[in-house]
Amino acid sequence: MAPGIKIKVQSFLSRLLTGAAGVVHAITSRNKKVEDYPWQSPSAEDRRSPCPMLNALANHGYLPRDGKDISVPRLVTALLDAINLAPDATIPAGLKALQTSTTGNALTFHLDDLAKHGIIEHDGSLSRHDIHAPPPNNNNNKDFAPEVWATVLPQLGPDGDRDDDGTISIDTAAKARLAHIAAVKALEPEFSMSADDIKASVIETCLYLLVFGEGAEGRARREWVRILFEQERLPFEEGFKRSKKTLTSADIQMLEEKVNAASQEQADTTVANLKRERKPMAA
Ligand code: HEM
Repeated sequence: MAPGIKIKVQSFLSRLLTGAAGVVHAITSRNKKVEDYPWQSPSAEDRRSPCPMLNALANHGYLPRDGKDISVPRLVTALLDAINLAPDATIPAGLKALQTSTTGNALTFHLDDLAKHGIIEHDGSLSRHDIHAPPPNNNNNKDFAPEVWATVLPQLGPDGDRDDDGTISIDTAAKARLAHIAAVKALEPEFSMSADDIKASVIETCLYLLVFGEGAEGRARREWVRILFEQERLPFEEGFKRSKKTLTSADIQMLEEKVNAASQEQADTTVANLKRERKPMAA
């Protein structure tokens, strides 16, 4: 299919699904409460993904607990019900997810299908081993890897030099992501991230800032972010509430610009420091 036509078909599909998802959500989600979605740890047969949020949604039953045969409307409903994420943010990711499908039905995917490298899954994950990690760590790019997360977590604060308000700022999140990528790049000779992978990884940072923070200001509650990553659970017990305002792709884009600006500032500082360090000493 010519690229222009492909984009038009995708955008038509996206609009069609957004409308349909709104109707499905209105019908299926009436009178549902947080207590209707108790967290349960997955069984050995249940499928899970490299995404801490989708795993949490399955662990709560917003998505099928077995992690199987998920359609885009089901994904949209789950994200609206659990965290009030708008269909315009979910659908593009959902359509990409369908490209990984091994269900035998082009309209559904299993959660573990998402680990297929190079479609959504990428190197430089904050809490998983990379497919390009040195063996034996390269055989699991899907499950939470405490040893990877343990290298990232200290960079998310608290910073001992400053008073800590228990949140992760945009600046801190951007620096932690950059520092982690620089570290794994040095460790993994095969490490590779395309421009799309870098964008996806920035968006993942924006998503946790948006869902657990204060809109476009960041300041995600660190404890809630930890619970998502470490337990694949939504921190309702710790005070997290579904946002009253629907979180849209425009909100994500606003954060994306701020995370990119903070990353650029950090990269510029690193270059300036290097230049200073390498300046020949005066005789
Ligand atoms: C809309 C449907 C979504 C799909 C299909 C999806 C899919 C994925 C996939 C495949 C990854 C793995 C990327 C990697 O290699 O690291 C990922 C990572 C991630 N996702 Fe999702 N995701 C979705 C929504 C969300 C939402 C709403 C959040 C909100 C917090 C979220 C948070 C994250 C985070 C923080 C990561 C990074 C994990 C890491 O770096 O270890 N995702 N997602």
